[in-house]
Amino acid sequence: MQVLILDFGSQYSHLILRRVQEFGITAELIPVQAFQIERLDSVQAIILSGGPRSVYDLDAIMPPLTIFKKKIPILGVCYGHQLIVHMLGGKVESSTSREYGIAEIQIENDHSLFHGLERSQQVWMSHGDFVRELPEGFESIAFSTNDPYSAIANDECQIYSLQFHPEVAHTINGRVMLRNFLKLAGFSPKETQTPILDRICLPDIEGNILLGLSGGVDSSVTAAVLHRKYTDNLYCVFIDTGLLRNDDYEHVSLVAKTIGLKHFIRIDASERFLDALRGIRDPEEKRKIIGRIFIEVFEQEAKHLAQKFGQFRYLAQGTIYPDRIESAKASQNAATIKSHHNVGGLPEKMKLSLIEPLADLYKDEVRTLGLELGLPYEVLFRHPFPGPGLAVRIVGEVTPSRVETLRKADSILIDELRKAKVYYDIWQAYAALLPVKTVGVMGDQRTYEDMVLVRLVESTDGMTADIYNLQKELAIRISSRIVNEISGVNRVVYDITQKPPATIELE
Ligand code: XMP
Repeated sequence: MQVLILDFGSQYSHLILRRVQEFGITAELIPVQAFQIERLDSVQAIILSGGPRSVYDLDAIMPPLTIFKKKIPILGVCYGHQLIVHMLGGKVESSTSREYGIAEIQIENDHSLFHGLERSQQVWMSHGDFVRELPEGFESIAFSTNDPYSAIANDECQIYSLQFHPEVAHTINGRVMLRNFLKLAGFSPKETQTPILDRICLPDIEGNILLGLSGGVDSSVTAAVLHRKYTDNLYCVFIDTGLLRNDDYEHVSLVAKTIGLKHFIRIDASERFLDALRGIRDPEEKRKIIGRIFIEVFEQEAKHLAQKFGQFRYLAQGTIYPDRIESAKASQNAATIKSHHNVGGLPEKMKLSLIEPLADLYKDEVRTLGLELGLPYEVLFRHPFPGPGLAVRIVGEVTPSRVETLRKADSILIDELRKAKVYYDIWQAYAALLPVKTVGVMGDQRTYEDMVLVRLVESTDGMTADIYNLQKELAIRISSRIVNEISGVNRVVYDITQKPPATIELE
């Protein structure tokens, strides 16, 4: 018997699966369109995920009503919550006061879903529609300032429903709530500690593998995983896209040495990338171009290496789960947020077959896997850096001089965070260049120059993020160094937006 998670396209549906599996319980996540009634015979609980639509949309997706009639315990989450209300006779309405990000709910009674928790709880909301009227048989079990029905229950039918997302890390006790639901459904959830390495399956192959090794956490852990099985056949290629930070090559060389890679090659393709990006302003277009060139360079290199070392049939990538969900490649109901260069940017026709050993993992799991493999802390806990590099941190056109400006700003920011010994307290910190000039005054002269944005966020998996509480003195040190040391920049702004509603990167 298992938990069936019906996916309505939320960015977090796969996280629900991960959480349930972490309790040692078998679960399956399927798009709601793939659901068949017969499945109900082998299911002990159902979770309805969130999703990007409103229950009133013409293309709103609904499960068959029968699922509510079989006395199978059900948990609704966000869109799933609204579906339950809508399908069982209550009322859902859209509202101008949307709830995105951290919210506080008050638990109303001693409901078992909240067993062991204090009355007041921090949760993560991401919705514009609200429940206005409960269906018959339901009661409210938690509320927020904006919403009297943050959590509801019908104990007789064992249907429970949450407007917020218990699966994301920012709902502090979300795991407890999920565990309580699983207990109510008759499971005995446990905290399992199976090594992540045991979950990685690598195919038996013939021929060589090419891996793009950027030195980031994902590609470094991928290299370490593949090195164990394919030591002699693994060729790691570092492509200098011209969109990298100052110390990226130095760092990746350290990674290659630590793992003991047999074949590590550097290719300078910076001109090719920068030429192709000339005049391009649209974020998705940038990502697609970069994805295409990456593959072209890989295929060219594979051909070149094959003359010396035998055929290359595989391209390995450090794609992780959030890359796939945000590129809408992991769920047919999900909206495309951005095409991660290594996913949405791949051309339809590729000569190399893909190997993506981390495709079902989140960043924190990748780091744990890296620790299991003995990789050093500095490699595993370096801040994430997107595949398309500085191109998605330069809003508007990417030019060599703008890349250079940004490189300097980024290196000042990171240097100050390291000096203040807060670098590892932060999930990700970066500088970006905005396509805006503003007026300033320097040495009694008017200036009209570029604006740098700094973004510092806290997160555990990159799926949701909170802003880092940047101390004023440190903020001033960062902004004065950027303005004083980089000519052409006269203003630094701090991004104070959580994810959602914003994403971590600007593009
Ligand atoms: P967003 O901007 O989607 O970022 O909130 C979530 C995390 O993913 C990183 N990111 C990428 N990583 N290729 C990658 O390998 C990409 O195209 C890409 N885009 C974003 C981002 O830095 C953050 O850590």
